[in-house]
Amino acid sequence: MTPMSEPAHVRSALTRAGHDQLVYDLTGIEGQYHALLDELPDVSVRFAVKACPHPPVLACLARVGAGFDAASPGEIELTLRNGALPADVHYGNTVKSDADIAAAHSLGITTFATDCVEDVRAIARHAPGAHVFCRVATTGAGALWALTDKCGSDDAVGVLTEARRLGLVPAGLSIHVGSQQMTASAWRQALDSLVVLVTSLASRGIHLGHVNLGGGLPAHGYFGRTGAPLVPPTGEIFAAIREGMGRLREAGGRLRFVVEPGRHLVADHGTIRAHVARLTSREQRWLYLSCGKFNGLYETDQLRYRLTFPDRAGGAVVPAVIAGPTCDSDDRFGGSPVVVPADLVSGDPVWIHSAGAYAIGYTTVGFNGFGPLPVVAVRAEKIRPIDAGDWSTIAELEAAEYAPRGLSESRAALESRWAKETSFVLDGGERLGGYVLALPYPPNRFPDPGRPETTAYHSANLHLHDIVVSAELRGRGWGTRLLRHLTDAARSFRYERISLIAVDGAAGFWSTRGFRAHPEVTLPAGYGPGAVYMSRPITGEGEARDPAPRNEQRSFR
Ligand SMILES: Cc1ncc(COP(=O)(O)O)c(C=O)c1O
Repeated sequence: MTPMSEPAHVRSALTRAGHDQLVYDLTGIEGQYHALLDELPDVSVRFAVKACPHPPVLACLARVGAGFDAASPGEIELTLRNGALPADVHYGNTVKSDADIAAAHSLGITTFATDCVEDVRAIARHAPGAHVFCRVATTGAGALWALTDKCGSDDAVGVLTEARRLGLVPAGLSIHVGSQQMTASAWRQALDSLVVLVTSLASRGIHLGHVNLGGGLPAHGYFGRTGAPLVPPTGEIFAAIREGMGRLREAGGRLRFVVEPGRHLVADHGTIRAHVARLTSREQRWLYLSCGKFNGLYETDQLRYRLTFPDRAGGAVVPAVIAGPTCDSDDRFGGSPVVVPADLVSGDPVWIHSAGAYAIGYTTVGFNGFGPLPVVAVRAEKIRPIDAGDWSTIAELEAAEYAPRGLSESRAALESRWAKETSFVLDGGERLGGYVLALPYPPNRFPDPGRPETTAYHSANLHLHDIVVSAELRGRGWGTRLLRHLTDAARSFRYERISLIAVDGAAGFWSTRGFRAHPEVTLPAGYGPGAVYMSRPITGEGEARDPAPRNEQRSFR
């Protein structure tokens, strides 16, 4: 995705948000993960949890196959609760106490980062036999946050030799070139230093299993302190990494590679919906926002974020210093003023883009009373076949729609009507947003309301038993899309007609979609008063296309 335009499902979540929140786009994060693997095939991705410890994001990454770089027992537990296995998680923090090592060991973690002999000795005592990889010091030059000094060894050979002596497995080397690294040369230099070390270790009989390339891969939607876009040479960076990996393979034989991106996977896929506190004018104009350094935008020391004011477009603009809501003078965007709409008023929504990295973890518990933002995760809705795990939500959606009218069925009855080729859910990411159940039934016959099916029919008639779109997703065309999806499936499985029972006076609506009433078909009382059996042929490609709905939520069974 280009960072300059958010996809429709994100825009819609931001538009509907009635209060401040941080919105993650799970579809975007998944796409970013796959794009990274396209650039670095055969590299294992271990997401740096610290960049976004939000459970749905972790679960989403675990589902697509990512492992995790955890910085503490707390982060390890978080990953294990969200779908990771201990083998997919390493303890990537070189700073840890005896108790931290023992806790990680008891959670099943077998791979630890290290950078000094004291830490190696502690690992040997509290996680005997563990695999260790030594983080090698880098300069951090070229990065917005250098991450140098505190972590990283200048004597990886000595550290790993001690590890071997103590019965640990000297398994690898790692680097971190600094966060938001803006140069390819930093990677070249760091990888060159690893080639030297791999060769030197091999000459001492230490043959490594892997090299961990660390984090540092950039986000694309940031602006620097001067207001100019930060455009990292991403293509050149990936080329430098691939080339360095080639040289390491030559030096170290069958090395595996790991990468630990944090920012690169989540920054451009998190957007904050905040609001204007006040546009004021003193010696200069200030724009105070409800979100700042202490509740989501910690990195304003180096960054500016792209702002959108969705309710104010096209009017006069003024330069203003942007600041957060606290009365702390540090709580402001650095650098020169930013041009903003002149007519902003308190309460106007503002969208803060590319704010997905290091937003949650760095947030204070409530400095000045401004607590952490609520976090939501959205996903591009898609229609997919029903999975066995969907039924409890389907039953809830059904009950919400039909129970108020006394027409709700048991879950067993609903499940019994599951024809796999012609039943679908509307998958909205964190939660299902609707479903359609259709099954073969002879013409003029239909399910007995409330009773599970006892017979599986073969028929050229497909009975559309149920279609529901949740209250939150109504009015966005999903009913039409579900019906179209069903019609296309019916056509491909060579059904000739679709039937349904319009309940609650919905026959008029369905007649606008090509369904004809069959008043001669008598219906049981379980369908409610005024229910009508209706059907429509399915003919050639495209013929059964539906007109735009006047109201997509019409009841029928
Ligand atoms: C050990 C380690 N790995 C990975 C990362 C992620 O870095 P980035 O967000 O720059 O990708 C960090 C960040 O501090 C880190 O300390």
